[in-house]
Amino acid sequence: MFELSLHPVILAVSAADQRLMRRAKVEALRRRAREAAALSAQYGGFVLGALEKDDAGVPLPSNGLYWSLSHKERMVAAVVSPRPVGIDLERLAPMHSRMYDRIADAAEWALAPYKIEKLFFRYWTAKEAVLKAVSKGLTRLDRCRVQAIVDDDHLQLQYEQAVWGVTHYWVGGDHLVTVTSDHVALQWHVLE
Ligand SMILES: CC(C)(COP(=O)(O)OP(=O)(O)OC[C@H]1O[C@@H](n2cnc3c(N)ncnc32)[C@H](O)[C@@H]1OP(=O)(O)O)[C@@H](O)C(=O)NCCC(=O)NCCS
Repeated sequence: MFELSLHPVILAVSAADQRLMRRAKVEALRRRAREAAALSAQYGGFVLGALEKDDAGVPLPSNGLYWSLSHKERMVAAVVSPRPVGIDLERLAPMHSRMYDRIADAAEWALAPYKIEKLFFRYWTAKEAVLKAVSKGLTRLDRCRVQAIVDDDHLQLQYEQAVWGVTHYWVGGDHLVTVTSDHVALQWHVLE
């Protein structure tokens, strides 16, 4: 049963912004991700205030709302929720086998018949989304574990004592967005 509707927003990054150099590009991506957060709040009927972070760079609730965002070169994603929430976006790329061992242990990989690239990115984005929802970064990666592959679009994870469900959304075949999604109806918005 759904208790809440959330509206994750995925926005394309303009070709001009993709051509920017280093710092200017990062700043443009961060601005674009904040546009996505504003839209997510708007679609959800939430009134978002200023988006501020603590000294460790962790997003602070704004007007009682939690927000999470992710930026990559070609697109950004964001979500706003009255409950803790996390979102992560990655572009698929070949990964060294060492990274598979870093992102999950043997028991987690044993949940699937093969260690394939898509599953690597499902695990990776799911863990980042949960770790953002609990306001921790990748430093707590080893405490976040995949418990079950529910279906092609859903995983169940555990962080310390809590169980988290996540939902995946593929964009353009090579980008994966994952959002924490317990008891939540998701309406995705993909915009140019
Ligand atoms: C925070 C972290 C999860 C971000 O992931 P990422 O894939 O690099 O970047 P994304 O674009 O997906 O997300 C960045 C956003 O996450 C948010 N964020 C940063 N730290 C966060 C935290 N502790 N909890 C929740 N959200 C956080 C910020 O809003 C940030 O965007 P902003 O700088 O524009 O405000 C990750 O970089 C991290 O944990 N770093 C900690 C340092 C570390 O462990 N380094 C080793 C990496 S190999």
